[in-house]
Amino acid sequence: MRTDIVHIGAGELTYEIRNIVAVGEKMRALGLDLYWENIGDPVAKGEKIPEWMRRTVADLAMDSDSYRYCPTRGVLSTREFIAAMTNARGGAQITPDDIIFFNGLGDAINKVFGLLRRTARVVVPSPSYTTHSSAEAAHAGDRPVTYRLDPRNHWYPDLDDLEKRIKYNPAVVGILIINPDNPTGAVYPEEIIRGMVSLAAKYDLFIVCDEVYQNIIYNGAKTRALAEIIGDVPAINMRGISKEMPWPGSRCGWIEVYNADKDEMFSRFVASILNVKMLEVCSTTLPQLALPELMTHPDYSAYLKERIRRYELFSNIAYDTLKDIDGLMVNRTNGAFYMSVAFEEGRINGRQSLAVANPQVKAHVEGLVGQAGVAPDKRFVYYLLGATGICVVPLSSFATELQGFRVTLLERDEARFRRIFDTMAAAIREYLASA
Ligand SMILES: Cc1ncc(COP(=O)(O)O)c(C=O)c1O
Repeated sequence: MRTDIVHIGAGELTYEIRNIVAVGEKMRALGLDLYWENIGDPVAKGEKIPEWMRRTVADLAMDSDSYRYCPTRGVLSTREFIAAMTNARGGAQITPDDIIFFNGLGDAINKVFGLLRRTARVVVPSPSYTTHSSAEAAHAGDRPVTYRLDPRNHWYPDLDDLEKRIKYNPAVVGILIINPDNPTGAVYPEEIIRGMVSLAAKYDLFIVCDEVYQNIIYNGAKTRALAEIIGDVPAINMRGISKEMPWPGSRCGWIEVYNADKDEMFSRFVASILNVKMLEVCSTTLPQLALPELMTHPDYSAYLKERIRRYELFSNIAYDTLKDIDGLMVNRTNGAFYMSVAFEEGRINGRQSLAVANPQVKAHVEGLVGQAGVAPDKRFVYYLLGATGICVVPLSSFATELQGFRVTLLERDEARFRRIFDTMAAAIREYLASA
């Protein structure tokens, strides 16, 4: 090309959760049985969508009206339904016009960060769900600006660190909160969220919040929805149906805007989000039509409760299996369906390995770990994959210096889940002892 055609932020766009699949597929082709614990798709992990849900969607698919474009913000009756749900909490009050639908939250995340002025930064958690941190970093063409989630304190945000990141970096205009969190599975207590909202108020910032897992909380954990405690602070809250319903293939999520009228600049920013959506016309219509029908179905809450009970059971099995391994920092997952495990500092290096039985797989793993610049936890993940077939994601790919891995709790078969975690625990001990 006669001039550079690559966006300044292109280097920030990596998604290890899917990259690792290519590595796993190669190993499967070499004869390995795979246990996919890398991606947060309950349906891909065997979740059976109940008959009543499929019937509701099928009936809508028989209606010609479901095939039309919908209004740019989304189907009005669905936005009315959502606004009523949010307003019933008694905190921030919104109208249907404060809601905009997107083609999944991935789309919302890219638009919200992509439309920020290049020099304006949103401080994101570390570790961070990559779609957020990469989209924010790509818009700025720079590394993400991060605040620490503390593996020695239930993965809660370190509010002192957050304040420092804001105070000493005038480019920071917003704070990202993900609650419950991906990749850590943490659920933040009310005081923590209040602390974050207070910092936003103190430094005249806005909040971006991701509550896609808001209704997947267990182990007695208590939290608050952002709407309940946002007060006067301008905020964009992201919600969706990918995880809760679960219907990730619907590509359907929305933002709720709180306090747009409290700040003229924020209001203009939100208008730009709506305008860019208008250029695209609208988001997927059918899942929006289905949403109120599914959520008010008499069997919806029992179905969700059954899944939540399973995640709770599996979060405890995972925690109990790994918590006593010397060299690990392990926290019990209280929400969503991920667990992030960090190695204590200095416990993994570039010399450790696992015995890999299949010679072709062994050669492939050795080729992968022999490449320049492979992070120590990626090395561990490759060996774990080659030796056991268990596919997890290196923690260092979630915008953190911490070394570790993220694993999902989505397996449906308890005996198989226990086997996977027992195998993983043995492999971790072997790996740490190997050099
Ligand atoms: C915290 C969080 N936000 C957003 C998403 C993306 O959701 P969607 O399927 O609506 O794009 C995910 C997916 O894993 C997630 O974990």
